[in-house]
Amino acid sequence: MIEQDSEIIFNKRVASDTFFMGLRSPRIAADARPGQFVMIKVGQGIDPLLRRPFSICGVSEDDLVLILYRVVGRGTTIICDAREGELLSVLGPLGSGFERPQKGEKPILVAGGMGIAPLIFLATTMKPGSLTFLAGFSSGEEIAAADEIGLSGIYISISTDDGSAGHRGLVTELLKDRLAGFNGNINPVVFACGPLPMLKEVAAITLDKDIPCQVSLEASMACGLGACQGCAIRRSSEQAMAYYHVCQDGPVFDVNALDWEAL
Ligand SMILES: Cc1cc2nc3c(=O)[nH]c(=O)nc-3n(C[C@H](O)[C@H](O)[C@H](O)COP(=O)(O)OP(=O)(O)OC[C@H]3O[C@@H](n4cnc5c(N)ncnc54)[C@H](O)[C@@H]3O)c2cc1C
Ligand code: FES
Repeated sequence: MIEQDSEIIFNKRVASDTFFMGLRSPRIAADARPGQFVMIKVGQGIDPLLRRPFSICGVSEDDLVLILYRVVGRGTTIICDAREGELLSVLGPLGSGFERPQKGEKPILVAGGMGIAPLIFLATTMKPGSLTFLAGFSSGEEIAAADEIGLSGIYISISTDDGSAGHRGLVTELLKDRLAGFNGNINPVVFACGPLPMLKEVAAITLDKDIPCQVSLEASMACGLGACQGCAIRRSSEQAMAYYHVCQDGPVFDVNALDWEAL
């Protein structure tokens, strides 16, 4: 784990309330794996005190760590106002990453909203024709152009709640359709990140069909280092250690490892 003052190389608006930022962090970029995250200190002083967690959306050949983020509150408003050349303190890479698909498995990536960020990184490590990428948004105005966020060459099936782009409805409906279309020779493996209700539905679908699935969870995080207990979630089975820390044991978990009713 590395703490590095990282220069903002670009920080541009790519969709409604959504920004794409490149931070020069050579050592973090060298170690980063899809599914890991960074904790970013959003201001120079002690206010706001806590760093904010963001998935690593990719790394570029020129040592940039790429972040795709939505402006939702104070910290992300400060970040979106930061200009090229400014330095942000970045801590990472943190947490576990996705385990790569086994030979012969067909990866299906399922994203909800900003949950697309870690899945973009994962997708860029796979052959473009080998994966199925499904992404759901509230509305078309939340969707960034693929080439603006490092995704050119990868086809994404879109759903929107309001029907303004792609399939009208939920991304989990797209997932059910895809799985229904597969014959017995295809071994799907699902990678998902998004809001909790979406992940619960993905878990129900994959557990029911006994399909391997890894989910990347979000939780409130104060430290990101396993020290504050703020991100504890229940394991699926009664063990001596009944809880995981999302920041250290996750944020990526096998779907079987979690107590979905307690989440
Ligand atoms: C492992 C991890 C990876 C993440 N990756 C990304 C990413 O790639 N892109 C991205 O845009 N966001 C990501 N998030 C969420 C991001 O950390 C929060 O949106 C951010 O911390 C909000 O900071 P703020 O100061 O702007 O908002 P605050 O003022 O702290 O909160 C504003 C509103 O956002 C809600 N909120 C705050 N944190 C979260 C959270 N973790 N999940 C859901 N709602 C939250 C609050 O409840 C409140 O309603 C990630 C979170 C985690 C834990
Ligand atoms: S955020 Fe502090 S223990 Fe996970």
